[in-house]
Amino acid sequence: MGNALALLVPMPEPWTAVDVGAGTGVSTIALARACAGSSVVAVEPEKPLREALASRLAQDGSVGPRVTIAASLVDVAITQPVGCLFARNVLHLLSAFDREALLREILKLDIRGPIVLSVDERKYKGAEGGERLIDARVIGESRYERWFAWESVNHGQIDCTNTFRVFVGDRLAREVSFRATRYESALASSLDILAAHGFVHSQNLGVDFVSVRR
Ligand SMILES: C[S@@+](CC[C@H](N)C(=O)[O-])C[C@H]1O[C@@H](n2cnc3c(N)ncnc32)[C@H](O)[C@@H]1O
Repeated sequence: MGNALALLVPMPEPWTAVDVGAGTGVSTIALARACAGSSVVAVEPEKPLREALASRLAQDGSVGPRVTIAASLVDVAITQPVGCLFARNVLHLLSAFDREALLREILKLDIRGPIVLSVDERKYKGAEGGERLIDARVIGESRYERWFAWESVNHGQIDCTNTFRVFVGDRLAREVSFRATRYESALASSLDILAAHGFVHSQNLGVDFVSVRR
């Protein structure tokens, strides 16, 4: 990720870099390192993740002091032009409505450099609806299994369920499931919206990143 971002034109110092959907800060730190010297705004709506991000940044003296954390783009005054806007692994998690709303907020910014997107467009293997064993390992007397199932709901919405099971001998001792929703074609629809505002394809930064700029 760092190598891909380093391909960006270096930013003059008065510009700000913005990481949208910062999570716990993996992308924020990569962006801040690629834009050495610049201020960085990290936007993350989930409070627990903002707290984790703040504690991660507090441990990084070269990056932490340059980063401002915000709950949304509306909550933060970005007074300088934006030299780079990064959205890593965010857009495919949003419905078409929420994705467009976020892109419209992004497009209100004075963006002078690239918008760099990384969108997970993976296609699911295996039968829809059926559970598939992803991983199994035996530790001591326990067997740990991870199962995955996906289901296409509507409008390109895919609901994914990861289920973790622990067996002691033949007995199921514990089962926990996590559901997550993702959306297909998030990249194409985002690029259409950005293109309508003059942001055109600039370069593919490795397989995972697409960059557009005016
Ligand atoms: C999979 S995480 C990616 C985190 C980080 N960018 C990274 O690459 O490690 C997606 C993040 O996007 C955030 N998110 C969801 N909706 C958002 C929105 N409308 N605006 C900004 N961030 C959003 C989620 O809370 C989550 O932390």
